[in-house]
Amino acid sequence: MFEIGLELRRERGPENVFDFTLGNPDVEPPDAVIAELRRVASENRPRSHAYMPNAGYPEVRSAIARGLEARTGLPFTGQEVIMTNGAAGALNIVHKAILDPGDEVLLLNPYFPEYRFYVENHGGRPVLVETDAQFQPDLNRIAQAIGPRTKAIILNSPNNPTGAVYSEACLRELSGLVRDPVIAISDEPYRPLTFDGVKPPETLRLIERSVLAWSWSKAMAIPGERAGYLAMSPRLAELAALRDACTFANRILGFINAPAIWQWVVGAAPDATVDVAQYQEKRDLLCDALTGMGYAAPRPQGSFYVFPKTPIADDVAFIHRLMAEGILAVPGSGFGRGGYMRLSLTIERQALERSLAGFERAIRQPK
Ligand SMILES: Cc1ncc(COP(=O)(O)O)c(C=O)c1O
Repeated sequence: MFEIGLELRRERGPENVFDFTLGNPDVEPPDAVIAELRRVASENRPRSHAYMPNAGYPEVRSAIARGLEARTGLPFTGQEVIMTNGAAGALNIVHKAILDPGDEVLLLNPYFPEYRFYVENHGGRPVLVETDAQFQPDLNRIAQAIGPRTKAIILNSPNNPTGAVYSEACLRELSGLVRDPVIAISDEPYRPLTFDGVKPPETLRLIERSVLAWSWSKAMAIPGERAGYLAMSPRLAELAALRDACTFANRILGFINAPAIWQWVVGAAPDATVDVAQYQEKRDLLCDALTGMGYAAPRPQGSFYVFPKTPIADDVAFIHRLMAEGILAVPGSGFGRGGYMRLSLTIERQALERSLAGFERAIRQPK
């Protein structure tokens, strides 16, 4: 897609290419984040560029734990928090810690494609479980998919690519299925990015056997800085062993932990979030326009993706039709669900507006 984008820009001029493919925030980090970054740099405390404990700075981990305790009501301490190289780091260390070769991890389809690699990196086998018509976890299918080799299920709400937010009732019921040795790995980099006042339920509170993979990449628009954490539920019976294994995995997988400067920054302003209203405005503009043209394009509740049905079943063929209009989108089959496409709201608003005529022409073509 990236290569095709470059070629299209050369052919048509950059102003005539409308790139809906990237999950790279188009906004700048909140002022509070840049202010903390300046403070940390100007204080330049002795040894602030040195090695640190493998799980990250204890003071920062304690600050994160206080926030988790307030949110979930669970007795979190810094011991349950490991500072990681984004959510990708958190997901990799927990898989490294829990998987033996051939163990299975359930992925709810459609899914973020990197999950497959994260599981396979550590000898695991991804098992796809279809979601329901609203892209919510299908509890019957999940119950059927759990077998003797199942070690984990990855949850992702708000979801990439669908924008679905899992309901509290669903997570509560799911808790009954997540029994020893299975754990729920809740990947939540989009948690603060929700629309219409929707508040995602707290997975750590609702599912006893859960861990949280967190990242500030999307919340603070800092994906290049690689700041995240893994938080392990204090209710896990195997907490001490899991903590040791994840801390060791953080040390040996090559990325060690979250960068030092960024640990101090996020520790000082953990809740600073980009302005979500601008994503919501673009969501409304795009969904209303597409629906008016005849696309099935429901409004997502969160993340910054819209996941409409393609008007023809062959999503890849439709992506090519859009490409002829200068529009770049990702086929749903890239996420395990053909017949759909993912459109990222990180595109500039004016480009989004100018792309609409192309969407209209694409759906008017004979099927
Ligand atoms: C669902 C999901 N999980 C994890 C990640 C990785 O996040 P990070 O950049 O913090 O490693 C992404 C990035 O796009 C994502 O969409």
